[in-house]
Amino acid sequence: MGKFGMLQGKRLCFLVTLIVCLWWTLQLKGADGQLTDPSEVEALDDIRNSLTDPSGSLRVWDRGDPCTSNWTGVLCFNTSLDDGYLHVRELLLLNMNLSGTLSPEIGRLSHLQILDFMWNNIIGTIPKEIGNIKTLQLLLLNGNQLTGSLPEEIGFLPNLDRIQIDQNFISGSIPTSFANLIKAKHFHMNNNSLSGQIPPVLSTLPFLVHLLLDNNNLSGYLPPELAQMPQLKILQLDNNSFDGTTIPASFGNMSHLVKLSLRNCGLTGPIPNLSKISNLTYLDLSFNQLNGSIPPDKLSDNITTIDLSYNRLTGSIPSSFSYLPRLQKL
Ligand SMILES: *[C@@H]1O[C@H](CO)[C@@H](O)[C@H](O)[C@H]1NC(C)=O
Ligand SMILES: *[C@@H]1O[C@H](CO)[C@@H](O)[C@H](O)[C@H]1NC(C)=O
Ligand SMILES: *[C@@H]1O[C@H](CO)[C@@H](O)[C@H](O)[C@H]1NC(C)=O
Ligand SMILES: *[C@@H]1O[C@H](CO)[C@@H](O)[C@H](O)[C@H]1NC(C)=O
Ligand SMILES: *[C@@H]1O[C@H](CO)[C@@H](O)[C@H](O)[C@H]1NC(C)=O
Ligand SMILES: *[C@@H]1O[C@H](CO)[C@@H](O)[C@H](O)[C@H]1NC(C)=O
Ligand SMILES: *[C@@H]1O[C@H](CO)[C@@H](O)[C@H](O)[C@H]1NC(C)=O
Ligand SMILES: *[C@@H]1O[C@H](CO)[C@@H](O)[C@H](O)[C@H]1NC(C)=O
Ligand SMILES: *[C@@H]1O[C@H](CO)[C@@H](O)[C@H](O)[C@H]1NC(C)=O
Ligand SMILES: *[C@@H]1O[C@H](CO)[C@@H](O)[C@H](O)[C@H]1NC(C)=O
Ligand SMILES: *[C@@H]1O[C@H](CO)[C@@H](O)[C@H](O)[C@H]1NC(C)=O
Repeated sequence: MGKFGMLQGKRLCFLVTLIVCLWWTLQLKGADGQLTDPSEVEALDDIRNSLTDPSGSLRVWDRGDPCTSNWTGVLCFNTSLDDGYLHVRELLLLNMNLSGTLSPEIGRLSHLQILDFMWNNIIGTIPKEIGNIKTLQLLLLNGNQLTGSLPEEIGFLPNLDRIQIDQNFISGSIPTSFANLIKAKHFHMNNNSLSGQIPPVLSTLPFLVHLLLDNNNLSGYLPPELAQMPQLKILQLDNNSFDGTTIPASFGNMSHLVKLSLRNCGLTGPIPNLSKISNLTYLDLSFNQLNGSIPPDKLSDNITTIDLSYNRLTGSIPSSFSYLPRLQKL
């Protein structure tokens, strides 16, 4: 009886272990048995191995399947595609104290829409392989320590809505290929070391709303063509060196402009007639060598700030400045 009971006990124990094991395996596979595309799993592995993770933000990245085991920052499409696999839709690794580099294998996340590494300490360059992710909509790398230049491959992303690389150490010029980003609304590239001229061909971008390039090392002249951008609302170019060139008269034709900031850019010549820009709210042309008199025409009723200080302007303040109802700072 004792011996028989012990044997039964052992069998039961074995059976229970087996069931626990099976249950665990099923859990890992996900309730419906769906799995992440193996090449994306490999890519995520490589991405993690290139990063340094002192705070252990990615410690769950060795448990189970990325899409079904709640991996930190990995968001997937909730159903599989025709290939039978789940795919990563968003990689959201912002503010995780990550350092190390960005693996070129990021380019294998072929269905990705959002790539977000904002506010970490990542070094190295922006992998050109990001240009392979044709589905990418948001490229958010601001607030890191990235170096090297902008890969021209990124200019061929047909769905890119926004590129944010501000607050890094990116150098080199703005690739002319960026003129192909026909869906782009936001270029946030301020606070880097970009150099060379602003490519005039960027003026063909039909939906660009924000062009932020302040605090770089850009030079050459300001392309008059930029005024042709039909949707531009914010143009910030402070702290660059367009030394000895003028503000194109065409800038007075940027009908949707809300903010124009060209502080400390080495600009000379006259202030253009900006009276036609009906929503202009913020105008800063200070710390240049602008000369001549201030245009007499009345600026937008919406204007709150006009800073023309530290220039070589002559004549008096136009009387039209007395009739600006929202002016707070002159
Ligand atoms: C971030 O990482 C550094 C080491 O690189 C560490 O000293 C620091 O404590 C971490 N900060 C947080 C908030 O985890
Ligand atoms: C997924 O993980 C996060 C923390 O990383 C946690 O807050 C959340 O509750 C988890 N969700 C599920 C469904 O386990
Ligand atoms: C899957 O995602 C789609 C779109 O994001 C959503 O409308 C749908 O409700 C989701 N289905 C499930 C089962 O979560
Ligand atoms: C970065 O740019 C913003 C304006 O776009 C500026 O206010 C800020 O001081 C800059 N930061 C550094 C560290 O240069
Ligand atoms: C900007 O360019 C000048 C010369 O072209 C160079 O001396 C300077 O170091 C550059 N500054 C930055 C921040 O890259
Ligand atoms: C321009 O650079 C100066 C110092 O070089 C800095 O104090 C200022 O905040 C910068 N302007 C903007 C708009 O970032
Ligand atoms: C501004 O636009 C008008 C109408 O499109 C055009 O005739 C004029 O030449 C433009 N001005 C400049 C300076 O480009
Ligand atoms: C001015 O701003 C208003 C409100 O934001 C907007 O409806 C209007 O279209 C703008 N006008 C132009 C010319 O951009
Ligand atoms: C400035 O532009 C406005 C609107 O286009 C126009 O009516 C005005 O005559 C211009 N002023 C000068 C001095 O050319
Ligand atoms: C403005 O300065 C430029 C050169 O810096 C000079 O050629 C031009 O005559 C000046 N214009 C006026 C109105 O003083
Ligand atoms: C500018 O003012 C007009 C009316 O004065 C208003 O309709 C419009 O919304 C304002 N635009 C912005 C950008 O605030």
